[in-house]
Amino acid sequence: MGAGLPDSTTVSSAPHVDVAAARARVRTATRADVPAVRACLVASGLSTAGVGADDVRLAVLEDRQGRIVGVTGFEGGGPDALLRSVAVAPALRRHGLGRMLAEAACERAAALPDVERLWVLDAGSGAFWQRLGFRLVPTADLVAALPHAWQVVALVESGDIERQIAWTRPARP
Ligand SMILES: CC(C)(COP(=O)(O)OP(=O)(O)OC[C@H]1O[C@@H](n2cnc3c(N)ncnc32)[C@H](O)[C@@H]1OP(=O)(O)O)[C@@H](O)C(=O)NCCC(=O)NCCS
Repeated sequence: MGAGLPDSTTVSSAPHVDVAAARARVRTATRADVPAVRACLVASGLSTAGVGADDVRLAVLEDRQGRIVGVTGFEGGGPDALLRSVAVAPALRRHGLGRMLAEAACERAAALPDVERLWVLDAGSGAFWQRLGFRLVPTADLVAALPHAWQVVALVESGDIERQIAWTRPARP
C-alpha cells in the first residue's frame, strides 16, 4: 500500500499523484482485465479493436483499490510497432501519468529486437506525442507501415482514419 496513486473516484480536482510510485504499479494486462480495459478506452474515446488479442500487448495502471485507472500498449512487431490505447482516467490527467504510461509502452516495444520504428495515431493530443519525441508524418505512411494492425484496419473500415494524425519516431535513440 501507500504507492501514492489516489483513488480515482474520490480524488479532488487537485490530487497528489506520485508518478514514480505509479510506475511500479504498471503491470501486463490479463484476460480478466479485458472488460475494464475496454471500458477505460471507450471512456477515453479510443478504439477497442483487437483488445484481448495475443498480438495487442497492453499494460494497466491500477489505483490502490485495484481499479484500472490507466492503460497503455502497442501492437505489431516487425520493424514497426503501433503504440496505442494510452489512456489515463480523467480525474488523474495532467500529472505526468500519461507520459509515464506512453514511455512504458515505448520501452516495452523497443525491447523487442525486431522493432525499429514506433508509430502512433491520435485524434487530438498532438503536443503530448511531440513532447515524447514523435514527429508528424502523413497518415498514409503509417497505414503503409502497419496495414494489418487491428487499430488501422478498424479505422480504415470505419473511415475514421481521415480524422487521425500520425506520428513516428525511431524505437531507440
Ligand atoms: C493523452 C493522455 C494520455 C495524456 O495523459 P496525461 O496524464 O494528462 O499526460 P501528462 O500529464 O503525462 O502530460 C505530458 C505532457 O503532455 C501534455 N499534454 C497532456 N495531454 C495533452 C493534450 N490532450 N494535448 C496536448 N498536450 C497534452 C502535458 O501538458 C505535458 O506536457 P509537459 O511535459 O510540457 O508538462 C490523456 O489526456 C488521455 O487519456 N486522453 C484520452 C486518450 C487519448 O487521446 N490518448 C492518446 C492517443 S493513444
